[in-house]
Amino acid sequence: MRGRRCRGVHVPHRAGRGVSATASIDPRALRQTLGQFATGVTVVTCRAADGEPVGMTANSFASVSLDPPLVLWSVDRSARSYDAFAAAERFAFSILAQDQADHSNRFSKPGTEKFTGVAIVEGMGKVPLIADAAAHLECVQHATFDGGDHLVIVGRVERFVRHDRRGLVFSQGRYGVVAPHPGTVGAPPREASERHPYDDFLVPLLYRAYNHLFRAFSDTLAAEEATGPQMRILAILAASGPTDDETLLTRTMLSQTSFADARASLLAMGLIADRDAIAAITEAGRTRLGDLLNQAAAQEGRSTGALDATEVELLRDLLRKLVRHHESAP
Ligand SMILES: Cc1cc2nc3c(=O)[nH]c(=O)nc-3n(C[C@H](O)[C@H](O)[C@H](O)COP(=O)(O)O)c2cc1C
Repeated sequence: MRGRRCRGVHVPHRAGRGVSATASIDPRALRQTLGQFATGVTVVTCRAADGEPVGMTANSFASVSLDPPLVLWSVDRSARSYDAFAAAERFAFSILAQDQADHSNRFSKPGTEKFTGVAIVEGMGKVPLIADAAAHLECVQHATFDGGDHLVIVGRVERFVRHDRRGLVFSQGRYGVVAPHPGTVGAPPREASERHPYDDFLVPLLYRAYNHLFRAFSDTLAAEEATGPQMRILAILAASGPTDDETLLTRTMLSQTSFADARASLLAMGLIADRDAIAAITEAGRTRLGDLLNQAAAQEGRSTGALDATEVELLRDLLRKLVRHHESAP
Protein backbone atom coordinates (compact mmCIF):
# COMPACT_ATOMS: atom_id res chain seq x y z
CA MET A 1 0.00 0.00 0.00
CA ARG A 2 1.52 3.33 -1.04
CA GLY A 3 -0.59 5.62 1.07
CA ARG A 4 -2.66 5.59 4.25
CA ARG A 5 -6.15 6.82 4.67
CA CYS A 6 -6.83 8.67 7.88
CA ARG A 7 -10.14 10.43 8.43
CA GLY A 8 -10.68 10.65 4.69
CA VAL A 9 -7.32 12.26 3.94
CA HIS A 10 -5.13 10.47 1.49
CA VAL A 11 -1.50 10.90 2.44
CA PRO A 12 0.75 9.57 -0.30
CA HIS A 13 4.05 8.17 0.93
CA ARG A 14 5.87 9.61 -2.05
CA ALA A 15 4.95 12.01 -4.77
CA GLY A 16 5.74 10.63 -8.18
CA ARG A 17 4.52 9.54 -11.59
CA GLY A 18 2.62 12.74 -12.03
CA VAL A 19 0.84 12.49 -8.66
CA SER A 20 1.04 15.78 -6.88
CA ALA A 21 1.71 15.37 -3.19
CA THR A 22 -0.55 18.32 -2.45
CA ALA A 23 -3.39 17.46 -4.80
CA SER A 24 -5.30 15.47 -2.22
CA ILE A 25 -4.39 17.45 0.85
CA ASP A 26 -7.30 19.01 2.65
CA PRO A 27 -6.05 22.30 4.19
CA ARG A 28 -8.42 21.98 7.16
CA ALA A 29 -7.19 18.48 7.97
CA LEU A 30 -3.60 19.65 7.54
CA ARG A 31 -4.20 22.56 9.92
CA GLN A 32 -5.71 20.15 12.48
CA THR A 33 -2.79 17.80 12.08
CA LEU A 34 -0.28 20.62 12.57
CA GLY A 35 -2.24 21.57 15.68
CA GLN A 36 -0.99 18.36 17.30
CA PHE A 37 2.31 20.18 17.67
CA ALA A 38 2.06 22.22 20.86
CA THR A 39 3.67 25.67 20.66
CA GLY A 40 4.00 28.79 22.71
CA VAL A 41 2.28 32.00 21.61
CA THR A 42 4.00 35.24 20.66
CA VAL A 43 2.86 38.68 19.67
CA VAL A 44 5.20 39.93 16.93
CA THR A 45 5.46 43.70 16.73
CA CYS A 46 7.10 46.37 14.60
CA ARG A 47 6.56 49.97 13.52
CA ALA A 48 5.00 50.66 10.13
CA ALA A 49 6.69 53.16 7.80
CA ASP A 50 4.35 55.89 9.16
CA GLY A 51 5.42 55.06 12.75
CA GLU A 52 2.14 53.32 13.72
CA PRO A 53 2.57 50.29 16.00
CA VAL A 54 1.82 46.95 14.29
CA GLY A 55 1.30 43.62 16.03
CA MET A 56 -0.06 40.16 15.39
CA THR A 57 -0.32 36.88 17.26
CA ALA A 58 2.02 34.23 15.88
CA ASN A 59 2.90 30.71 16.92
CA SER A 60 5.16 30.00 13.93
CA PHE A 61 8.05 31.32 16.03
CA ALA A 62 11.05 28.99 16.16
CA SER A 63 14.66 29.21 17.22
CA VAL A 64 17.15 28.74 14.39
CA SER A 65 20.69 29.31 15.59
CA LEU A 66 22.59 30.34 18.72
CA ASP A 67 25.67 31.62 16.90
CA PRO A 68 24.71 33.87 15.28
CA PRO A 69 21.52 34.23 17.36
CA LEU A 70 18.70 33.70 14.86
CA VAL A 71 14.99 33.06 15.20
CA LEU A 72 12.22 32.89 12.62
CA TRP A 73 8.51 33.18 12.10
CA SER A 74 6.24 33.21 9.08
CA VAL A 75 3.72 35.86 8.18
CA ASP A 76 0.65 35.23 6.07
CA ARG A 77 0.97 37.12 2.79
CA SER A 78 -2.71 38.05 3.01
CA ALA A 79 -2.43 39.54 6.52
CA ARG A 80 -3.25 43.21 6.86
CA SER A 81 0.11 43.79 8.54
CA TYR A 82 2.11 41.77 5.98
CA ASP A 83 3.61 44.83 4.24
CA ALA A 84 4.76 46.35 7.52
CA PHE A 85 6.51 43.15 8.67
CA ALA A 86 8.02 42.39 5.26
CA ALA A 87 9.58 45.87 5.20
CA ALA A 88 10.42 46.30 8.89
CA GLU A 89 14.11 46.52 9.66
CA ARG A 90 13.35 45.86 13.33
CA PHE A 91 10.72 43.69 14.96
CA ALA A 92 10.25 41.97 18.30
CA PHE A 93 8.61 38.92 19.84
CA SER A 94 6.76 39.07 23.13
CA ILE A 95 6.42 35.46 24.30
CA LEU A 96 3.06 35.58 26.06
CA ALA A 97 2.69 34.47 29.66
CA GLN A 98 0.03 31.97 30.65
CA ASP A 99 -2.37 34.68 31.86
CA GLN A 100 -2.17 36.61 28.56
CA ALA A 101 -4.54 34.58 26.35
CA ASP A 102 -6.68 37.71 26.01
CA HIS A 103 -3.71 39.46 24.36
CA SER A 104 -3.38 36.54 21.95
CA ASN A 105 -7.06 36.89 21.04
CA ARG A 106 -6.79 40.64 20.64
CA PHE A 107 -3.74 40.47 18.35
CA SER A 108 -5.16 37.68 16.22
CA LYS A 109 -8.08 39.80 15.03
CA PRO A 110 -7.61 42.20 12.17
CA GLY A 111 -8.05 45.78 13.27
CA THR A 112 -6.28 49.00 13.91
CA GLU A 113 -7.10 49.36 17.61
CA LYS A 114 -5.09 46.36 18.79
CA PHE A 115 -2.85 48.38 21.10
CA THR A 116 -5.60 50.41 22.78
CA GLY A 117 -5.49 49.74 26.51
CA VAL A 118 -2.60 47.27 26.26
CA ALA A 119 0.37 48.00 28.53
CA ILE A 120 3.46 48.23 26.36
CA VAL A 121 7.14 48.93 26.86
CA GLU A 122 9.10 50.63 24.12
CA GLY A 123 11.99 48.56 22.78
CA MET A 124 14.84 49.30 20.39
CA GLY A 125 13.77 51.44 17.45
CA LYS A 126 10.54 52.26 19.36
CA VAL A 127 9.18 48.77 18.59
CA PRO A 128 6.38 48.15 21.13
CA LEU A 129 6.77 45.17 23.47
CA ILE A 130 3.86 43.63 25.40
CA ALA A 131 4.39 44.31 29.10
CA ASP A 132 4.47 41.39 31.57
CA ALA A 133 5.23 38.82 28.87
CA ALA A 134 7.26 35.70 29.69
CA ALA A 135 10.13 36.92 27.49
CA HIS A 136 11.05 39.50 24.87
CA LEU A 137 13.35 39.08 21.86
CA GLU A 138 14.25 42.16 19.87
CA CYS A 139 15.50 41.49 16.35
CA VAL A 140 16.73 43.03 13.14
CA GLN A 141 15.60 41.44 9.91
CA HIS A 142 18.33 39.01 8.80
CA ALA A 143 16.73 37.27 5.80
CA THR A 144 13.39 36.43 4.26
CA PHE A 145 12.42 33.29 2.35
CA ASP A 146 9.51 32.27 0.24
CA GLY A 147 7.22 30.13 2.34
CA GLY A 148 4.29 29.50 0.00
CA ASP A 149 1.33 31.56 1.17
CA HIS A 150 3.57 32.84 3.99
CA LEU A 151 6.84 34.78 4.04
CA VAL A 152 9.46 33.31 6.36
CA ILE A 153 11.24 36.07 8.24
CA VAL A 154 14.49 35.33 10.02
CA GLY A 155 15.55 37.78 12.71
CA ARG A 156 18.93 38.28 14.34
CA VAL A 157 18.43 38.72 18.06
CA GLU A 158 19.94 41.98 19.30
CA ARG A 159 18.54 41.98 22.82
CA PHE A 160 16.45 39.59 24.87
CA VAL A 161 15.07 39.29 28.36
CA ARG A 162 13.49 36.37 30.17
CA HIS A 163 10.97 36.99 32.95
CA ASP A 164 10.09 34.52 35.64
CA ARG A 165 6.65 33.76 34.21
CA ARG A 166 5.30 30.60 32.63
CA GLY A 167 4.54 30.76 28.93
CA LEU A 168 1.11 30.37 27.34
CA VAL A 169 0.67 27.16 25.32
CA PHE A 170 -1.31 26.61 22.10
CA SER A 171 -2.23 23.08 21.08
CA GLN A 172 -5.08 21.51 19.10
CA GLY A 173 -6.56 24.96 18.51
CA ARG A 174 -6.83 25.73 22.22
CA TYR A 175 -4.83 27.56 24.82
CA GLY A 176 -3.16 25.57 27.55
CA VAL A 177 -0.82 26.00 30.45
CA VAL A 178 2.50 24.42 31.19
CA ALA A 179 2.08 21.72 33.80
CA PRO A 180 4.67 19.16 34.84
CA HIS A 181 4.11 15.81 33.19
CA PRO A 182 2.73 13.47 35.88
CA GLY A 183 5.45 11.19 37.16
CA THR A 184 8.36 13.19 35.73
CA VAL A 185 8.59 16.53 37.46
CA GLY A 186 6.66 18.24 40.24
CA ALA A 187 6.83 16.71 43.69
CA PRO A 188 10.30 15.21 44.27
CA PRO A 189 10.17 11.41 44.47
CA ARG A 190 10.06 10.25 48.05
CA GLU A 191 11.44 7.13 49.66
CA ALA A 192 8.90 4.29 49.71
CA SER A 193 8.97 4.33 53.52
CA GLU A 194 8.03 8.04 53.55
CA ARG A 195 5.20 7.56 51.12
CA HIS A 196 1.67 7.71 52.42
CA PRO A 197 0.02 4.37 51.58
CA TYR A 198 -2.93 6.13 49.96
CA ASP A 199 -0.90 8.66 47.97
CA ASP A 200 -1.87 7.10 44.67
CA PHE A 201 -5.63 7.15 45.26
CA LEU A 202 -7.86 10.09 44.57
CA VAL A 203 -10.35 9.63 47.39
CA PRO A 204 -7.83 9.83 50.26
CA LEU A 205 -5.97 12.65 48.49
CA LEU A 206 -9.17 14.64 48.06
CA TYR A 207 -10.21 13.87 51.62
CA ARG A 208 -6.88 14.97 53.06
CA ALA A 209 -6.75 18.10 50.88
CA TYR A 210 -10.33 18.88 51.93
CA ASN A 211 -9.45 18.49 55.61
CA HIS A 212 -6.39 20.75 55.35
CA LEU A 213 -8.28 23.44 53.49
CA PHE A 214 -11.42 23.14 55.58
CA ARG A 215 -9.56 23.12 58.91
CA ALA A 216 -8.15 26.55 58.09
CA PHE A 217 -11.57 27.82 57.02
CA SER A 218 -13.44 26.37 60.01
CA ASP A 219 -11.48 28.76 62.30
CA THR A 220 -12.77 31.65 60.19
CA LEU A 221 -16.30 30.22 60.39
CA ALA A 222 -16.02 29.80 64.16
CA ALA A 223 -14.92 33.44 64.51
CA GLU A 224 -18.05 34.36 62.52
CA GLU A 225 -20.18 32.10 64.74
CA ALA A 226 -21.15 30.08 61.70
CA THR A 227 -20.73 26.40 60.83
CA GLY A 228 -19.92 24.48 57.67
CA PRO A 229 -23.34 22.76 57.57
CA GLN A 230 -25.12 26.13 57.85
CA MET A 231 -23.05 27.55 55.02
CA ARG A 232 -23.72 24.51 52.86
CA ILE A 233 -27.48 24.80 53.34
CA LEU A 234 -27.42 28.54 52.55
CA ALA A 235 -25.29 27.98 49.43
CA ILE A 236 -27.62 25.27 48.07
CA LEU A 237 -30.77 27.29 48.75
CA ALA A 238 -29.22 30.39 47.13
CA ALA A 239 -28.37 28.42 44.00
CA SER A 240 -31.46 26.18 43.76
CA GLY A 241 -34.31 28.21 45.27
CA PRO A 242 -36.85 26.76 47.74
CA THR A 243 -36.10 23.08 48.35
CA ASP A 244 -37.81 20.30 50.27
CA ASP A 245 -35.97 18.79 53.23
CA GLU A 246 -35.34 15.41 51.70
CA THR A 247 -33.62 16.90 48.63
CA LEU A 248 -31.76 19.41 50.76
CA LEU A 249 -30.47 16.70 53.07
CA THR A 250 -29.23 14.62 50.13
CA ARG A 251 -27.55 17.58 48.45
CA THR A 252 -25.78 18.78 51.60
CA MET A 253 -24.37 15.27 52.15
CA LEU A 254 -24.76 15.88 55.91
CA SER A 255 -25.83 13.42 58.58
CA GLN A 256 -29.49 13.69 59.63
CA THR A 257 -28.50 15.22 63.00
CA SER A 258 -26.08 17.88 61.64
CA PHE A 259 -28.63 18.78 58.98
CA ALA A 260 -31.46 19.13 61.52
CA ASP A 261 -29.27 21.25 63.88
CA ALA A 262 -28.02 23.54 61.11
CA ARG A 263 -31.51 23.95 59.63
CA ALA A 264 -33.06 24.79 63.02
CA SER A 265 -30.35 27.37 63.83
CA LEU A 266 -30.68 29.06 60.42
CA LEU A 267 -34.45 29.25 60.92
CA ALA A 268 -34.02 30.74 64.43
CA MET A 269 -31.65 33.43 63.03
CA GLY A 270 -34.08 34.29 60.23
CA LEU A 271 -31.55 33.31 57.55
CA ILE A 272 -33.96 30.78 56.03
CA ALA A 273 -37.76 30.58 56.04
CA ASP A 274 -39.86 27.46 56.15
CA ARG A 275 -43.17 27.06 54.37
CA ASP A 276 -44.80 23.61 54.41
CA ALA A 277 -41.44 21.87 54.98
CA ILE A 278 -39.91 23.72 52.02
CA ALA A 279 -36.91 25.81 53.02
CA ALA A 280 -36.02 29.09 51.28
CA ILE A 281 -33.17 31.53 51.84
CA THR A 282 -34.15 34.99 53.14
CA GLU A 283 -32.57 38.36 52.21
CA ALA A 284 -30.66 38.27 55.52
CA GLY A 285 -29.52 34.75 54.58
CA ARG A 286 -28.20 35.97 51.24
CA THR A 287 -26.27 38.80 52.89
CA ARG A 288 -24.81 36.38 55.43
CA LEU A 289 -23.83 33.91 52.70
CA GLY A 290 -22.16 36.73 50.71
CA ASP A 291 -20.06 37.67 53.77
CA LEU A 292 -19.07 34.06 54.40
CA LEU A 293 -18.14 33.51 50.74
CA ASN A 294 -15.87 36.58 50.84
CA GLN A 295 -14.16 35.18 53.91
CA ALA A 296 -13.89 31.77 52.21
CA ALA A 297 -12.26 33.35 49.13
CA ALA A 298 -9.67 35.13 51.27
CA GLN A 299 -8.95 31.96 53.25
CA GLU A 300 -8.73 29.88 50.08
CA GLY A 301 -6.09 32.27 48.73
CA ARG A 302 -4.02 31.70 51.87
CA SER A 303 -4.49 27.91 51.96
CA THR A 304 -3.53 27.28 48.34
CA GLY A 305 -0.24 29.17 48.54
CA ALA A 306 1.69 26.12 47.28
CA LEU A 307 -0.03 26.49 43.89
CA ASP A 308 0.03 29.48 41.56
CA ALA A 309 -3.18 31.16 40.40
CA THR A 310 -3.34 29.15 37.16
CA GLU A 311 -2.83 25.85 39.00
CA VAL A 312 -5.64 26.73 41.41
CA GLU A 313 -7.91 27.51 38.44
CA LEU A 314 -6.88 24.25 36.75
CA LEU A 315 -7.65 22.29 39.92
CA ARG A 316 -11.05 23.98 40.16
CA ASP A 317 -11.81 23.13 36.51
CA LEU A 318 -10.87 19.48 36.97
CA LEU A 319 -12.91 19.12 40.14
CA ARG A 320 -15.90 20.85 38.51
CA LYS A 321 -15.65 18.42 35.60
CA LEU A 322 -15.61 15.45 37.96
CA VAL A 323 -18.51 16.76 40.03
CA ARG A 324 -20.57 17.63 36.94
CA HIS A 325 -20.00 14.15 35.54
CA HIS A 326 -21.41 12.53 38.68
CA GLU A 327 -24.21 15.01 39.22
CA SER A 328 -25.44 14.80 35.63
CA ALA A 329 -25.43 10.99 35.65
CA PRO A 330 -28.97 9.56 35.41
C1 LIG B 1 -2.42 31.12 18.26
C2 LIG B 1 -2.34 31.84 16.94
C3 LIG B 1 -1.18 31.78 16.19
C4 LIG B 1 -1.08 32.44 14.97
N1 LIG B 1 0.09 32.38 14.29
C5 LIG B 1 0.23 33.07 13.12
C6 LIG B 1 1.48 33.06 12.43
O1 LIG B 1 2.44 32.46 12.86
N2 LIG B 1 1.56 33.79 11.27
C7 LIG B 1 0.49 34.48 10.77
O2 LIG B 1 0.63 35.11 9.71
N3 LIG B 1 -0.71 34.48 11.42
C8 LIG B 1 -0.85 33.82 12.59
N4 LIG B 1 -2.03 33.86 13.27
C9 LIG B 1 -3.15 34.61 12.70
C10 LIG B 1 -2.97 36.13 12.90
O3 LIG B 1 -2.72 36.46 14.24
C11 LIG B 1 -4.23 36.85 12.44
O4 LIG B 1 -4.45 36.56 11.07
C12 LIG B 1 -4.20 38.35 12.64
O5 LIG B 1 -5.45 38.88 12.30
C13 LIG B 1 -3.18 39.04 11.78
O6 LIG B 1 -3.24 40.41 12.05
P1 LIG B 1 -3.54 41.49 10.88
O7 LIG B 1 -4.80 41.02 10.22
O8 LIG B 1 -3.71 42.78 11.60
O9 LIG B 1 -2.36 41.45 9.97
C14 LIG B 1 -2.16 33.20 14.48
C15 LIG B 1 -3.34 33.26 15.25
C16 LIG B 1 -3.42 32.59 16.45
C17 LIG B 1 -4.69 32.67 17.27
